[in-house]
Amino acid sequence: MLAKESAGGKPTPIRVALLGCGTVGTEVVRLLTDQAGDLAARIGAPIELAGIAVRRPNKHREVPEHLLTTDASALVKSDDVDVVVEVIGGIDPTRGLLLEALHNGKSVVTANKALLAEHGSDLFEAADGSGADLYFEAAVAGAIPLLRPLRESLAGDRITRVMGIVNGTTNFILSAMDATGAGYAETLEEASRLGYAEADPTADVDGFDAASKAAILASLAFHTRVTAADVYREGIRQVSAADIAAAKGLGRTVKLLAICERVVSPSGQESVAVRVHPAMIPRTHPLASVNGAFNAVFVEADAAGEMMFYGQGAGGAPTASAVLGDLVAVARNKVASGRGPRESAYAALPAQPMGNTPTRYHISLDVADKAGVLSQVAAVFAEHDVSIAAVRQEGRTEDASLVIVTHAATDAALRSTVDKVGGLPVVRDVVSVMRVEGEE
Ligand code: NDP
Ligand code: HSE
Repeated sequence: MLAKESAGGKPTPIRVALLGCGTVGTEVVRLLTDQAGDLAARIGAPIELAGIAVRRPNKHREVPEHLLTTDASALVKSDDVDVVVEVIGGIDPTRGLLLEALHNGKSVVTANKALLAEHGSDLFEAADGSGADLYFEAAVAGAIPLLRPLRESLAGDRITRVMGIVNGTTNFILSAMDATGAGYAETLEEASRLGYAEADPTADVDGFDAASKAAILASLAFHTRVTAADVYREGIRQVSAADIAAAKGLGRTVKLLAICERVVSPSGQESVAVRVHPAMIPRTHPLASVNGAFNAVFVEADAAGEMMFYGQGAGGAPTASAVLGDLVAVARNKVASGRGPRESAYAALPAQPMGNTPTRYHISLDVADKAGVLSQVAAVFAEHDVSIAAVRQEGRTEDASLVIVTHAATDAALRSTVDKVGGLPVVRDVVSVMRVEGEE
């Protein structure tokens, strides 16, 4: 179908309300301006900015003044707006603004993972109700085309696992700790100084950002609804220089991983296990060489096998690239009077608690160097039905370092084992406890 034409015979422009003009929004405006001609040719109609909502208009000398407004709600409601692009972030006021747009049949492009992970179902329902599009490629892994492949390209396959590095800030910090041997606090300080960590790094370092992304990935991959509350979450604040050194000693490195798994019980009951936590992975694993602020995600599917998606997971221009890709898709749908793929949550899989999820642990202990210590420690593992895969002991003068790597056991059993081992009189210190991923 051809684009609707205005009275002069030219295609009717698609009018866009931009909500937010910060790191990402500024780059969206730049790309829309610099590439206006190409975008119009690709879409079949020009894109025009109807307005830009911000909090502090005086700060925005880089955009035409007449477009700026502090009244985001009026802009969204305006009859002059076809598509709403939201790059404000957070839950309020964005939830109300996007629901208003979608209820009124205005398609939405958003980079807001926190909103999607908490209120995705409300947004999808509103989009379905009015037939509007809801696109959000930029919400996970910035510039990397990942959500569209999961939602569209792999829609004919059965995805079993998605595992990746989806937070650039924490990956920058962990990569730097690995390279320098420095501790967490001083590396975070350096990351803030260089502009990689935000003034309030909580969402990144405590794993909230990655958990929101994991919820979105699991929902798309497994055709079910997963919210941030379903995701087990641990951040990187507790990762110490000793953990990094212990990992290095065994040819591993530490990464903050988001892991989404389809779990099938012996009776055939399916559920999803979604978790975010630091883990040791072998230095030979492809995710081990993902350093700095880069992201990478591994996807395993029954027919397709293993795939890896890699690229810039954050930053104004990379994220704006994903936003523009979505805007072009939405605009093309409008020109064709159609809509993109709907939400697919038919599987309605329950979320498996972390305690029941099988994991593997690396445990590094300082123990008394005397006869019978190893057997006391091993007995605790046996008591909890946790099988030991490897043990390494190094004697020093009065004590010894004992490193144990387990086979897979439930996370609850592994935790109880570590608690009990830590209480043994012969154990002087539990130096490092970390999950191990990426090895059989
Ligand atoms: P910024 O903080 O840089 O920008 C936020 C913008 O929203 C600012 O322009 C701010 O206005 C505006 N704003 C805030 N509150 C309101 C409000 N109530 N009404 C109108 N405007 C408001 O955020 P980012 O650009 O970094 O992030 C935007 C979104 O993109 C977030 O959802 C984020 O998670 C996501 N994202 C960001 C990435 C990145 O690398 N930065 C990567 C991937 C996703 P003012 O400037 O006047 O204060
Ligand atoms: N704070 C996020 C990160 C931005 O560090 O990856 C991208 O979502």
